[in-house]
Amino acid sequence: MTARLLRFSVNGEPVTVAVEPQRTLLEVLRYELDLIGSKQGCDKGDCGACTVQIDGLPRLSCLTLALAVEGRDIQTVEGLGRAHGGCHPLQDAMDRWDAAQCGFCTPGILMSAESLLRRSPGPVTRSEVREALAGNLCRCTGYTKIIDAVVDASEQMAAPRDETEAAQ
Ligand code: FES
Ligand code: FES
Repeated sequence: MTARLLRFSVNGEPVTVAVEPQRTLLEVLRYELDLIGSKQGCDKGDCGACTVQIDGLPRLSCLTLALAVEGRDIQTVEGLGRAHGGCHPLQDAMDRWDAAQCGFCTPGILMSAESLLRRSPGPVTRSEVREALAGNLCRCTGYTKIIDAVVDASEQMAAPRDETEAAQ
């Protein structure tokens, strides 16, 4: 099939790439742009390992046709720590809580969790985290430490704001 030019932004950078119409966003990220953080697990919408953010919301890149993201803003795990000078507080918390084993699910979990924390500023509850991560399968951890880490990160991120508010 004839390739078409696709223009979108990835982690804040404009990108133009020639794409065949049947290609998924996941394939373009991994095989055209060399952004291999988003994982190709089931490739049919069951595992969440391919989760990225499209215009700030978590989406399955294996089920998204690449040409459908023309002009959209895509965030992948590779860009997660940029605004934090290295690691995002979620990544630090996952490390503190030993919340990754094989790590295959971790990029997708981070992208789902970051979207939750941005949309729900302030500490989040365990049930909010469970709901946000419902589409992200982890075969290793049993989820408890992942949930601990996300709640911890939400508290860490809320703390400076609470202290600022308290000082006012
Ligand atoms: S690879 Fe996309 S949901 Fe499994
Ligand atoms: S850490 Fe192995 S699948 Fe989640």
